[in-house]
Amino acid sequence: MDARRALITGITGQDGSYLAEYLLDEGYEVHGIVRRVALEDPEHRLSRLSGFAGRLHLHAASLESYASIHQVIEKVHPEECYHLAAQSFVSYSFDDEFSTLNANINGTHFLLAALKNLARDCRFYFAGSSEMFGHAEEAPQNEKTRFHPRSSYGISKVAGFDLTRNYREAYQMHCSSGILFNHESPRRGYEFVTRKITSGVARIRAGKSKEVRLGNLEAKRDWGHAREYVTAMWRMLQQPEPDDYVIATGETHSVQEFAELAFSHAGLDYRDYVSPDPALHRPAEVNLLLGDASKAKAKLGWQFKIRFEDLVREMVEADCRALGVGSALPFG
Ligand code: NAP
Ligand code: GDD
Repeated sequence: MDARRALITGITGQDGSYLAEYLLDEGYEVHGIVRRVALEDPEHRLSRLSGFAGRLHLHAASLESYASIHQVIEKVHPEECYHLAAQSFVSYSFDDEFSTLNANINGTHFLLAALKNLARDCRFYFAGSSEMFGHAEEAPQNEKTRFHPRSSYGISKVAGFDLTRNYREAYQMHCSSGILFNHESPRRGYEFVTRKITSGVARIRAGKSKEVRLGNLEAKRDWGHAREYVTAMWRMLQQPEPDDYVIATGETHSVQEFAELAFSHAGLDYRDYVSPDPALHRPAEVNLLLGDASKAKAKLGWQFKIRFEDLVREMVEADCRALGVGSALPFG
């Protein structure tokens, strides 16, 4: 039997790289959309795919160009499409609302429209986000919780979620959205707070830095591991009917708790190294995210396993290892 064909947008990102590996292991023929520059500079821009890039089929296209997306869909004719590409950094979305809204909303729309025209039977996954809940009126948040996004990023994800549902209802396409809460890993981008902290810990241990400057330490997030979260995306597309699912751990921790644990894992006291920086506070903050993934557990059989403490340890150890320093050694 021929291998099933999957197309991943955002394959060079944290989630895209884990999902590509997972689908290859499941025997899929895996295609990915990348920006042209990624093919010109593979060493840097495909670094998360190193080790298995040779088994992937990569296609240059841009989220901003319907024509380029149409071309890839026509060529690949995917059976499953995982739409992960996005301007995903909330802070940056305050600096450039226009490009965030353009890339994230149009990108999703272009992809759905191309699939409708060329591969209507393809199953579609949209990377929704707990940022859609934003200033949530209840905790924990589930699939019925009202959206109140607090950034243009959150707004773009609500629009993508609505587009996805509309294609499901209007054209009977198998379109599902995952409402994923924060998920991290050693492959997380350095701009996100967890990786900023763990890479900061490693740099301090290596004598390359003296502090980590952080914004709001009180914000609380429901942090899971990306490697596990991508398997929930796949499970959604294996269901007979499309639907929307919250994916979360059901535990929440503050940024301060994350820092405390990360530094203590390296034998350090975070209070000696974390410097508050008011410039890093956001114009509108999401204070508390806590997800209820009971629907995913009941319908998809998905449940998180990697605990917060183990996630933090894995990230600190990976960053320390990359700089050639131990994590749990006494400092000095
Ligand atoms: P990420 O590491 O920032 O990866 C984003 C990907 O999107 C990269 O491959 C990036 O390509 C691509 N991309 C960005 N702008 C693009 C454009 N204009 N054209 C083409 N490609 C573009 O994000 P992630 O953490 O893997 O997250 C994956 C998706 O899930 C995103 O949609 C994110 O918003 C969403 N999400 C993430 C989380 C989380 O906690 N990680 C939670 C909920 C939802 P380059 O490598 O070329 O920049
Ligand atoms: N990035 C960053 N840098 N965040 C900081 C800092 C800092 O120096 N100091 C405090 N924070 C706080 C932010 O204000 C926020 O409350 C929290 O740390 C988490 O910030 P990020 O790690 O940047 O993630 P995020 O929660 O804004 O967004 C991530 O998760 C969403 C799902 O809830 C991204 O992955 C989004 O793409 C994703 O949709």
